[in-house]
Amino acid sequence: MSEPFDLTLRVVTDKSQLLAVMMRAWGSYKMMIGLHTYDVSEIDALGLYTPEGETAALASWTLREGTAYLCALHSFRPGEGVAIRMLDEVRRAAKAAGASRLKAMLTNDNMPGLTFYQRQGFRLSGLYLEAIDTYRSVIPTIIKTGYRDIPVHDALELEITL
Ligand SMILES: CC(C)(COP(=O)(O)OP(=O)(O)OC[C@H]1O[C@@H](n2cnc3c(N)ncnc32)[C@H](O)[C@@H]1OP(=O)(O)O)[C@@H](O)C(=O)NCCC(=O)NCCS
Repeated sequence: MSEPFDLTLRVVTDKSQLLAVMMRAWGSYKMMIGLHTYDVSEIDALGLYTPEGETAALASWTLREGTAYLCALHSFRPGEGVAIRMLDEVRRAAKAAGASRLKAMLTNDNMPGLTFYQRQGFRLSGLYLEAIDTYRSVIPTIIKTGYRDIPVHDALELEITL
């Protein structure tokens, strides 16, 4: 994997690109982690941008009761290290805001995400069987299949100490 090139970090104020990618990849702006739902249009977002102004990665996170929740992490340049850099920036921001741990949620199909988070030191912290099926009954646009057309049913939670 090549080293990330010269990227600039910015707080995302116009969330239209993030919301569009969320709709495409997940089918909703809302992300459930544990028993809570977070609206990505309302919580903090960070972006990494190339010198040409193109988006390399976007992330959405929030803090609740001392725990930070990573509600979205999207790379627009696969395999170039930009998601690792984006995650590092979220970890830094969450720690600076007082969080002692960071949690993320993955659907059962997301093998690249499972590899990614565990390679970055996250540990599994929860399994919510059929949570996505239940969520889809409330928000019918939630994706039905994901990575390699694997049916999406369950939620896996991962966390890391900051
Ligand atoms: C998971 C994701 C964020 C990785 O982005 P990326 O920019 O390709 O990742 P980076 O180049 O920064 O990091 C590469 C690391 O990610 C993992 N990874 C990325 N793509 C992978 C794949 N297809 N299969 C397995 N592992 C993968 C590996 O651990 C790799 O590091 P390694 O080669 O040292 O093992 C990206 O695939 C993505 O945006 N997916 C869609 C959204 C998503 O599922 N986000 C996570 C849940 S919110």
